[in-house]
Parts: sequence; C-alpha cells; structure tokens
Amino acid sequence: MIVLGIESSCDETGIALYDTQKGLLSHALYSQIALHAEYGGVVPELASRDHIRRIIPLLKEAFEKASIEPSMIDAIACTQGPGLAGALLVGSSVAAGIGFALGKPIIGVHHLEGHLLSPLLSSNPPSFPFVALLVSGGHTQLMKVSGVGQYELLGETLDDAAGEAFDKSAKLMGLPYPGGPEISRLAEQGTPEVFQLPRPMLHSKDLNFSFSGLKTAVLTAVNKQTAPLAEETKADIARGFVDAVVEVLCAKCAKALRETKLRQLVVAGGVGANRQLRAALDQMVAKRRCKVYYPEIAFCTDNGAMIAFAGAMRFKADPSCATRSYGFTVRPRWPLEELQAV
Ligand code: KG4
Ligand code: ZN
Repeated sequence: MIVLGIESSCDETGIALYDTQKGLLSHALYSQIALHAEYGGVVPELASRDHIRRIIPLLKEAFEKASIEPSMIDAIACTQGPGLAGALLVGSSVAAGIGFALGKPIIGVHHLEGHLLSPLLSSNPPSFPFVALLVSGGHTQLMKVSGVGQYELLGETLDDAAGEAFDKSAKLMGLPYPGGPEISRLAEQGTPEVFQLPRPMLHSKDLNFSFSGLKTAVLTAVNKQTAPLAEETKADIARGFVDAVVEVLCAKCAKALRETKLRQLVVAGGVGANRQLRAALDQMVAKRRCKVYYPEIAFCTDNGAMIAFAGAMRFKADPSCATRSYGFTVRPRWPLEELQAV
C-alpha cells in the first residue's frame, strides 16, 4: 500500500511517498527558515502563502523521485493539526483536491503523532512499548507509547517548550532564527560553568518541565555584559544554556525510564537533532542498560515522511479512519490525548 504524506503545519512544506512493504519511496522538503529569519520568528500569513507556492513543485518532485504515477497511491495523509490554521489549510485543501481527482481516501494526521512515530522509519526501529521524549518548538512532553494512538502523558512543560526556550534565548543573544541549531553550534566553542544557569524542576517529584526561567536567566546574563556581546561571551552563555537544558531533559528521561520500568527511549521533534542532547542521552541509557532511538536528522524537524508513515500505520490498521468526503477541517489546537487508539 502506498500513502502520500503532506505536511504544512508550520514553516516546512514536506511531501513523501511511503510504501508499507518497501518503506519510504521518496521525500521532498522546502524549509521557509530564510523567509522568516528577518522577522525573528514564523509569520503565519507568509507561511501560508509560501506553502501555496511550494507544494505542487514538491509533489512533482516526490513522484518523480519515487518513479510512480499519482494514480498508484492508495491514500493521502495530511497534517490536520495542531499548527497554524492557514498553513494547515494549504496542505489539507491540496490533499482534498488530489483525493477528489483520483478518488483516493484522505487521512487527517496529528502532527505530534507523526513526530512520535518518526523513529520507526529508521532501519533499526524500536518496538512498542517505549518512553518518548517529544521536544519541538511547540511541545515538550514525556509519553509512554504502547502502540499507535496509545499515548499516556507522563509529564510536560508547564510553560515554554524546549525549542521555544532555544529560539527565545538565541534572540536575546542576537542570534538568527531558528535559535536551536545556532546555540548548539556556539555552545561547542563555549566553556562550561562560566555561566551557571538554573536547572528548573530538576529535582521535582514529577516528570514536568519548566523552561521560561531559563530564558530569563539568559536575559539577565546578557544584560550584565557590555553591548555588543563578545563572541566568546556568546559561546559561554550558549554553553551554560545548553548544559542546563540537556541536564534537565536527560534527568527526566532517566526518571521516566525508571518509573515505567521500560528500557527503550525514543526522542522526537526538532530539539532531538541537538548533538549535546544526543551525547548526554547516549551516556545516560548506556549506564542504565537501556537503548535510545532517534529519527534520522532529516526527520527530526518537520517533514512529510513522518506524516505519510503515521497515516499509513493508521490506514493499515483501520481503513475506516480515512474519508472520501472531500470537505476538510483543520484542527489548529488538537490535544494528542484525543486520538483514538488503533
Ligand atoms: O519539530 P520542529 O521542526 O517544529 C515543531 O513542530 O515545533 O522543531 C523546531 C524546533 C525549533 O525550536 C528549533 O530551534 C529546534 O527545534 N531545533 C533545535 C535544533 N534543531 C532544531 N534545537 C536545538 N538544537 C538543534 N540542533
Ligand atoms: Zn513539528
């Protein structure tokens, strides 16, 4: 069975073709990072308009790379939410158009389910159940994943998401958007403990997080310096920030593995591309004789492959999850807990 996946929830247009027997056939991606960089964050209206410009050429690219005809697909999966309403509407309306033209059913996929299942796309996938750390620009959650749609929330951020903390802190330091990769790169040149930043909720009894105080600590550190910040100081602040975020994320993952008695940890979402986080988690699981699984770097941030894959999993398990009525609604706010198990 071949599923076409369409992602357009934020600032990446992603298209992919996934075959349940052969695996991923192709994927094509356009990132709008350069478009939004001068505004220091995603501008929703610009995002929607750019999805419109990119989506058809990307579809052509994905079909050409896979050497298949559109008529050969069995279903179309598109991100139905959560995300920016206008951006989601572009992907959903294109999915409905193709579905209507070809007479193929449509599956509305939850963006976070896409991220959560993305490590299953790799050649050495984890098996259910596992603990998942979902760390993106909008979410920071620890989840027990027992199957497709079987997600138990173990803990989450009480304020900013980890990626949001990266992006906001980077902005305070005068770094370009998106801040995550920039801070990560700078931190490698920084000296540890020159800036000792707080580890919010490190010792709390639960599996929740809080990152807004860390951003304030970065602001305080920046304000104490004479402007403009020296490169070396920037690197040291970045190092202090990354060390703090990584220590908290790593400690809570260890706690989640201990409490659930599970031995597999899956990391998903954009911050999962972070090198320092990966190094720390690798060490932590090795000590506990557990295993950690990451999506390929290309599938950490938003992409069409994870949407095609999540759609295919659902469609294979229950074809009635797809619709042939080509009206469509998007769900900009859509709690993951509302998903049905399959
Ligand atoms: O999953 P994603 O592409 O989009 C959302 O669904 O939010 O995640 C984007 C977030 C941004 O906050 C970005 O700064 C962060 O992931 N990010 C990183 C890295 N690469 C992307 N954060 C830290 N280190 C990275 N290497
Ligand atoms: Zn995402």
